[in-house]
Amino acid sequence: MYRIEEHQEKATAIHLFKVAAPEIARKARPGQFIIIQLDEKGERIPLTLAEWDAGRGTITFIFMEVGATTCRLARLQAGDYVQHVVGPLGLPAHIENFGTVVCAAGGVGVAPIMPIARALKRAGNFIISILGARTQELLFWEQELRQTSDEFIVTTDNGSYGRKALITEPLKEILSSRKIDRVIAIGPIPMMKFCSLTTRPFGVNTIVSLNPLMLDGTGMCGCCRVSIAGSTKFACVDGPDFDGHQVDWDLMAYRAKFYTAEENTANEKHSCQLPFNKKGLP
Ligand code: FES
Repeated sequence: MYRIEEHQEKATAIHLFKVAAPEIARKARPGQFIIIQLDEKGERIPLTLAEWDAGRGTITFIFMEVGATTCRLARLQAGDYVQHVVGPLGLPAHIENFGTVVCAAGGVGVAPIMPIARALKRAGNFIISILGARTQELLFWEQELRQTSDEFIVTTDNGSYGRKALITEPLKEILSSRKIDRVIAIGPIPMMKFCSLTTRPFGVNTIVSLNPLMLDGTGMCGCCRVSIAGSTKFACVDGPDFDGHQVDWDLMAYRAKFYTAEENTANEKHSCQLPFNKKGLP
């Protein structure tokens, strides 16, 4: 059992959990993820690590309420327990001094991008960050990402805060105006897809973090398979980071919707009122 040490609601329906998991905290690296199971029969949900503290033995993850399990998780408080936390899983992000790196974070994608941006900054890179969300209410960790960045842009789809734009607009402007050595894009599937399409004509290496459905998280079940440059890869052991220009985004989007009917049934049975349906994701 894993004790929840802290629970903060960071933005509308977006929750930060700090959980005691000393073994995971000791080994975690930027880009890695965990799988959580609330109870013995519960769904397994993969969540990328946002922070960890080896000294205190805690890990931090952030999630949005989008289904019955995340809704149940969001009702837990400090002092409660979750049954299983497995990790750290996946390959760590590739960190080196690339030169100038754009970190593009969409919605809750700011959580997994933070440790990567910090590590890239420590490695000597010049960091340009773009943080985007649908509305101001869904933005969080603006100051944290701003402090890690040499240049910082914030956008909202509806213009309620920062620049009224999709992330791809400032991204294209930056790519058009100077030499960029690498782009890291983390967020919802459409955001990562269109960031990759934006960078492709400029020939800039673009890394995305894929978060498909997962079961074991160790390369055994094949549930997390994705198509990269025409080859099947398992996001849990070959990723989660992949070259965004090589991802079959249509297959990725199709597989993400595979259990929509079952998820809707589970949501209807659940007593929580989901704040957003899947279409409402930032
Ligand atoms: Fe089973 Fe990746 S989650 S192979």
